[in-house]
Amino acid sequence: MSEPLRFGLVGCGRIGATADERVKSWPMAGVWLPYSHAGAVVATPGAALVAVCDVDGTAARAAAALHGAPAAYTDAAEMLTRERLDVLCIATRTRERGPLIESALAHGVRALYCEKPLSNTLEDADRLAAAVREKGVCFVYGTKRRYMPVYHRVRERVRAGEIGELVSIVVKSGVAPLLWNHPHSVDIATFFAGDAPAESVQADLDLGESQIEGDTLDGDPPIRMAQIRFSGGVGATIVAADSGDVELHGRAGSLCVRADGAEVRVRRPASGVDLGWLLDESAERVAEDAVRNQEILFAMAESELGGGRRVALPLPRRGLRITGRSGHLYA
Ligand SMILES: NC(=O)c1ccc[n+]([C@@H]2O[C@H](COP(=O)([O-])OP(=O)(O)OC[C@H]3O[C@@H](n4cnc5c(N)ncnc54)[C@H](O)[C@@H]3O)[C@@H](O)[C@H]2O)c1
Repeated sequence: MSEPLRFGLVGCGRIGATADERVKSWPMAGVWLPYSHAGAVVATPGAALVAVCDVDGTAARAAAALHGAPAAYTDAAEMLTRERLDVLCIATRTRERGPLIESALAHGVRALYCEKPLSNTLEDADRLAAAVREKGVCFVYGTKRRYMPVYHRVRERVRAGEIGELVSIVVKSGVAPLLWNHPHSVDIATFFAGDAPAESVQADLDLGESQIEGDTLDGDPPIRMAQIRFSGGVGATIVAADSGDVELHGRAGSLCVRADGAEVRVRRPASGVDLGWLLDESAERVAEDAVRNQEILFAMAESELGGGRRVALPLPRRGLRITGRSGHLYA
């Protein structure tokens, strides 16, 4: 048998290491677990969590103990140098992600699993994606709803013609900040639009307490309503409505996935329950997918800053910085 792949984790916070315990109390825990990066690595055949790292040594040691990792570090470069990792999971906040990706590439990792969003500017996202591509490194992004089997099964039903030609997608995401939550909304819409490129975006964001100065939007404004027009004609609407539902509206009916699979409703007869994560399909994407996702989010900000105008993609301004108020709650 071949040696297990050597995984390392940097960022031993909630999504990196600690969230599984909390998720156990969720009604859909069976669908979501394992939830943390460390928990997922440990549950994956052929993978070994050989080291974890956090600038907070207590967090690193606690994560190592919780998930059975033999080594805990406070410096990612030291972990990368000593551990000869095949795969690095990056679960820090956004600001730290770029330097960690670059360091991992310089240390010769073969694959990266990066949390979302990729960066706080599109120019950083462009540069990171080019660096990942240049090194030929496998890339997986934290927009994970597309790996849930329920969405695959529903997409098959749409493709089989159950609701006729798909016209529009509605993603209900609650009142949620742009970079913190909506990489997920944009990605699930993109998934159902057949991964077609987005042509234009229009958005109404709640700028609230965000400060805008020059090329900096200091904040992470929630989406009230945003629309994406995909090449090929499918439209998607993201709306600040409770539930987490994803609705697919076709010319001959509609399908609704409630709360990531609690229920699948069809406007015509059949309905059923689809649960469980997709384990048997390659999760690999390319870093440019993350840039495309992020460009849609930045176009929403540009639309709001431009008084709600429709914004065409690709975006000419790559230097807008959305801080996410790092150190505050978000991104
Ligand atoms: N995909 C998802 O469903 C999902 C869910 C939750 C969070 N996230 C994303 O994951 C990221 C992390 O969120 P969180 O809530 O787990 O954050 P968190 O603050 O709980 O954890 C981040 C950890 O990274 C550590 N850290 C920061 N800089 C570091 C460095 N240079 N080297 C090593 N460790 C470092 C911090 O000390 C902290 O322990 C966010 O960007 C968020 O958007 C994704």
